[in-house]
Amino acid sequence: MAFTEIKKGIYWVGANHPERKFFDELFPLPEGTSYNSYIVKGTEKIALIDTVDPVKADELIANLRELNVERLDYIISNHAEQDHSGSIPRILELYPGAKVVTNAKCKTMLMDLLDLKDENFALVGENEALDLGGKTLKFVLAPWVHWPETMFTYVAEEKILFTCDFLGSHESFGGTYDEEDGKRYFAEIMLPYRAFFRTHLERVAGMDLEMIAPSHGPIIGEPAKIIGLHREWASERVKNKALIAYVSMHGSTEKMVRHLENALAKKGIETKVFDVAKTGFEGVSSELLDSATVVFASAVVLNEAHPALLYAAHAINILKPKAKFYTIIGSYGWAATHAEQIKGALGNFKSAELIAPVFAKGTPKEADYAKLDALADEIAKRHAGI
Ligand code: FEO
Repeated sequence: MAFTEIKKGIYWVGANHPERKFFDELFPLPEGTSYNSYIVKGTEKIALIDTVDPVKADELIANLRELNVERLDYIISNHAEQDHSGSIPRILELYPGAKVVTNAKCKTMLMDLLDLKDENFALVGENEALDLGGKTLKFVLAPWVHWPETMFTYVAEEKILFTCDFLGSHESFGGTYDEEDGKRYFAEIMLPYRAFFRTHLERVAGMDLEMIAPSHGPIIGEPAKIIGLHREWASERVKNKALIAYVSMHGSTEKMVRHLENALAKKGIETKVFDVAKTGFEGVSSELLDSATVVFASAVVLNEAHPALLYAAHAINILKPKAKFYTIIGSYGWAATHAEQIKGALGNFKSAELIAPVFAKGTPKEADYAKLDALADEIAKRHAGI
């Protein structure tokens, strides 16, 4: 995709990556993603804000050439992660006079990650400004969204804020912000850091903004609307929802899952079920974001919890979900030995309440279904207090 002028003298020069399948080799990317990189042209100086993943460096360079960027004074690095910083070495080769402008923490990380040298850098701190001539870059330190060095860059004259990962979404640049994509992105990248996120979100809400330009996904032309969505996602509020992640080998655990799903539905609890052995993490994170209860359901294989369920439990756990309750169900052959293993994968559920697990020997029978009905009753009682 060719460069695009988004404001007078400000250009998108990044790259779309619709064919990318996973982020962090973990989260599915149904829409792929983009790496948004921006040129800000002042009357005196030219700055590049963030770069692109190294696999797309040629596209960034082609856009810079097409835009006739013959001289680059500054490379602003808002975030050290390589999908935004990884092309800095190639840009420095092309523009050896450019300085990498960032905060002290980001500098050390870029030196570690990219082997940049001290002389490559010019350091900035909170509220410091860089005058490009008619356009002033002002730096806002915003740590832990989602790395310790993250910051934003504000161009006051144009009322535009460059936020890198913050308020991004895994979509191509050029479309309009999609709420479902944004929710999934938030759950997979920002949910574990939501306390920091809330602080920075309110700072951004207080700024005079016409446009937010993240480094993944579309430009945000209605900041207030998107800030409102994120205010809800980043809150500790959950809904009357349950998420069931399960693995079944011979159908017994699946029978338990379907019975519990129906019992919860009868209680008015919106329940989403994921067969994680077949679909991996697809769709899980968005539902996890506001589910009050998470149910882990596993068959026993070789006397252990199923590895596919443990993988999902671990992935759910590292997102530090807001869930207030969780439980474990499943079928076993001769001993229900897997519950402790599953609990062991859930260290971040310390503040969630474990509702008594239900296990069935072999195929579930009348008494087991009655226990699942009682479990649904217990979940509904807890949800009444949400
Ligand atoms: Fe898009 Fe944290 O990198």
